[in-house]
Amino acid sequence: MTRLQLQHAEFKQLLDELEHSLSMRRIEMSDVRAAHLKLVGFATNHFAEEEREMETINYPIPALTEHQTSHFEFMRRLGGLLSDAEASQDPTNRTLDTVLFLNSWIRKHGPEHDQPLIDALQGGVPEPG
Ligand SMILES: [Fe+2]
Repeated sequence: MTRLQLQHAEFKQLLDELEHSLSMRRIEMSDVRAAHLKLVGFATNHFAEEEREMETINYPIPALTEHQTSHFEFMRRLGGLLSDAEASQDPTNRTLDTVLFLNSWIRKHGPEHDQPLIDALQGGVPEPG
């Protein structure tokens, strides 16, 4: 497995654990804060690494921009996680919706954006368009 693939596995695991805790209602506000902080740190570094890799190999601009836009969308929704939890008496309520979104995001983002990048890193840059 490549470094990026290992990071993807860890990323999925972080989100799965959070979804599981929320759906089992085994979570406190302090856990939501800790999970949020961990995800922000992880995603920031991971996205930056992917974006650096794309620049290094002169990845086609449209694909690079779409990939970055998708990362931005994740960070925007992740930012809402804490405000959702804080706005609600019960942190599991609205927070679970956001985590379900983040989990479906990662399952869509992987095949659409990450896999083509991994292929390009392993075998050359895809044809533009
Ligand atoms: Fe990505």
